[in-house]
Amino acid sequence: PPLANIVNLYDFEKLASKILSNQAWAYYSSGSDDEISLRENHNAYHRIFFKPKVLVDVSKVDTRTKMLGSQTDVPFYVTATALMKLGNPQGGEMDIAKGCGATDVRVPQMISTLASCSIDEIADAKVHDDQIQWYQLYVNSDRKVTKELIQHVEALGLKALFVTVDAPSLGHREKDLKIKFSTMQSGPELMQSKPEHKDAGAEKGASRALSKFIDPALSWNDIVEFKKHTKLPIVIKGVQRAEDVVKAAELGLAGVVISNHGGRQLDFSRSPVEVLAESVPELEKRGLRSDNFQLFIDGGVRRGTDILKALCLGANGVGLGRPFIYANSCYGKEGVAKAISLLTDELEMSMRLLGVTSIDQLGPELLDLSALRNRNVSVA
Ligand code: FNR
Repeated sequence: PPLANIVNLYDFEKLASKILSNQAWAYYSSGSDDEISLRENHNAYHRIFFKPKVLVDVSKVDTRTKMLGSQTDVPFYVTATALMKLGNPQGGEMDIAKGCGATDVRVPQMISTLASCSIDEIADAKVHDDQIQWYQLYVNSDRKVTKELIQHVEALGLKALFVTVDAPSLGHREKDLKIKFSTMQSGPELMQSKPEHKDAGAEKGASRALSKFIDPALSWNDIVEFKKHTKLPIVIKGVQRAEDVVKAAELGLAGVVISNHGGRQLDFSRSPVEVLAESVPELEKRGLRSDNFQLFIDGGVRRGTDILKALCLGANGVGLGRPFIYANSCYGKEGVAKAISLLTDELEMSMRLLGVTSIDQLGPELLDLSALRNRNVSVA
């Protein structure tokens, strides 16, 4: 169907479910075990309601904000997802870079360690020099490999390092396991370059094949150590409890991503938006809430209103994974640009209706959270 027929992010998903290969659809769409967290991530947003203000002059609405010291046009970003060539064999992650720079609204892109294209290719695919790209780091058990990677990324001009901490081993994703990942043609560039790893994926699900590269021994000490190797802001991605948010702030990190990896890791981990709601008061209580420590969130975000809810709760930036995977798989860079414009339009419209004209006016007083904790879990 023509791109003009796509009116919201769900339309990309519906189309992708029809046109993607079984292997790509299984890898992209799956969550772990019973997929409770996968569904809860999104459902939790449906239990938050607004308390809009009326009679505010909303003729001009400004969606700009700052993330990790960079000015951005919108408060959302494309988060890191591996293996983009499974769905878009030519363009892969390069098309995400192109789509993110295609219009007036430029969106930051987080690049996965397990991208199908090389970091250099993805950095080269930027449309504008000032386009923001970040790096998502999976830490190798060989710390020398990781150290070199960090230095390479910094030299390329990427703006921040997001160390993924929720994947000491990859979750049990059954849809994905059922499909044999017998070819690594779309596999991560990083693996292709090491012949001994070429057959790592044979006869396994895609996620099993990838987990070889992630060190389960990673600990808080390593994160402190990385600070010595780089000037880049370091954010840890995959924090799931207020205590760990507080700990990251105490260690002087640049921020955290509250995330359960899109429901692909520990099933029954809570929705990120619920964890965000309980983390901010804990930071405030300890005087740890500051502009130098930013809060990011991802998982289940599909609407401009979802973004607004997270921002009202104190998020500085909101990440989306699957919607951009599907947009990129169905339409390449034009799809990515379209997803950005749909989301930006929804965001502006919802800000107007909420009675706010800038991001800094958003706060918890605009939300009704009374239903948030009423988890109504049903097993598929
Ligand atoms: C991911 N995610 C992920 N995270 C990460 O740190 N490194 C990675 O390589 C990947 N790869 C990946 C592949 C696929 C197919 C998915 C769906 C997800 C997790 C991702 O960054 C993010 O946390 C979730 O995708 C957010 O949830 P939504 O927006 O997909 O619901």
